[in-house]
Amino acid sequence: MKMATKRKRKLPPTVEEEYRSAFGEYAQRGGEAALERAYELGRRAIAEKKSLMEIASLHHQTIHRMLVNTQEAARRQEVLAAGSEFLAETLSPYEMAHRGVQDAIAALRQLNEMLEEEIKRIAYAVHDEAGQLLVAVHLALADVTRELPASQREPIERIEGLLNQVEKQLRRYSHELRPTVLDDLGWIPAIRFLAEGISKRANLNIQIKTKVAGRLPGPMEIALYRIVQEALTNAAKHSKASQVSIQIARKNRNVSCSIEDDGVGFDVLAVQSDGKRRGLGLIAMQERLNGIGGTLSIDSVRGRGTKLLIQLPTEVSHANSHRAG
Ligand SMILES: Nc1ncnc2c1ncn2[C@@H]1O[C@H](COP(=O)(O)OP(=O)(O)OP(=O)(O)O)[C@@H](O)[C@H]1O
Ligand SMILES: [Mg+2]
Repeated sequence: MKMATKRKRKLPPTVEEEYRSAFGEYAQRGGEAALERAYELGRRAIAEKKSLMEIASLHHQTIHRMLVNTQEAARRQEVLAAGSEFLAETLSPYEMAHRGVQDAIAALRQLNEMLEEEIKRIAYAVHDEAGQLLVAVHLALADVTRELPASQREPIERIEGLLNQVEKQLRRYSHELRPTVLDDLGWIPAIRFLAEGISKRANLNIQIKTKVAGRLPGPMEIALYRIVQEALTNAAKHSKASQVSIQIARKNRNVSCSIEDDGVGFDVLAVQSDGKRRGLGLIAMQERLNGIGGTLSIDSVRGRGTKLLIQLPTEVSHANSHRAG
C-alpha cells in the first residue's frame, strides 16, 4: 500500500533563532546587512510583544554561547564589541516606540490643558454672563410689577421665584464645571462639592470615605476630578443605583480611588469593543489617566453594579507633569 508522505512545512525562524543567526553573521563578518537584520528583528520583537527583559536575556544567552567557544582574548573582545552594537540596533525600534508614546502623552496632556481652559471660559461665561442676564430680567420684572395693582402681582412673583431657582442652578453648574475649590482646596473637597450637587439632583446617596489629606500636582488633581465627575455622571445617568461609594486611599506614593455603585451594571467588553459606540466618557477617563501615568480598571456585572478603580503612582506622574509644564 502506498503511504502518503507528509512533507514537513518549514516554519520561519523564531525571533530567538533569527537573533542567534543574525548576530553570528555580524560577529563573523560585520556589515550593514546584518545590522539591518538586527533592526528588523527589533521591529518584529515589538510586534510579537517581546519585553525588553526577554531581549536582554536572549542577548545574554547568545553572547554567552559564543564566548564559551572563543578562546582567544582579542577575539572575545571583538565579539563583545559586536554584541553591544548589535543589541543597540535591535533595541532602537523600542527606543523609537517609547519616544512615540511619550510624544502622544505630551500631546494628550496639552490637549487636556486646552480643554480645561475652554471649560474654565464656559464656566465663567455661565456664571457671569448668564448671571448678568438674569439680573436684567429681574430688574425688568420689577418694573412691570411696579406698574401692576397689588392683586395682579402674584404670577410675576412666581416667575421671580423660578428665576431665582434658575440662577441658583446655573451658579451650581458653573461651579461644578470648574470649581474654584479645586484650585483653592484640592480635588477631594472639589469631589465632595460635586457629589453633594449630583446627589441632590439624581436622588442618589453618595458616600465619600477617605483619610487622605494634602495636595497633588495640578494636572493630576484636575484629571482625578474629571474622572470622578464622569464616573458619577455615568452612575446617575445609566446605573439606576441608589448608593454610590467613593473610597480614596494613599499607600506610599500611590493614590487609589474607587467609585462603586449598586446599580444595573453593564457588559464592559461589549461596550468597549462596540465599533459604533457613541459614548466618550469611558474613553476620556482612560486617556486622561494615560496622560498622568495612571491606570483604570472597570469591574461590572449585569445586575450587580459597577466598580471603577483608579490607580495613580504620584511619583512618576509628578515628574511627568513637571516636564510638561
Ligand atoms: N455606572 C454605570 N452603570 C451602568 N452602565 C454604565 C455605567 N457606566 C457606563 N455604563 C455603560 O457604558 C456606556 C459607555 O459609557 P460612556 O461614559 O463611555 O458613554 P455615555 O455615558 O453613554 O456617553 P457620554 O459619556 O459620552 O456622555 C454607557 O452608555 C452605559 O451603557
Ligand atoms: Mg458617560
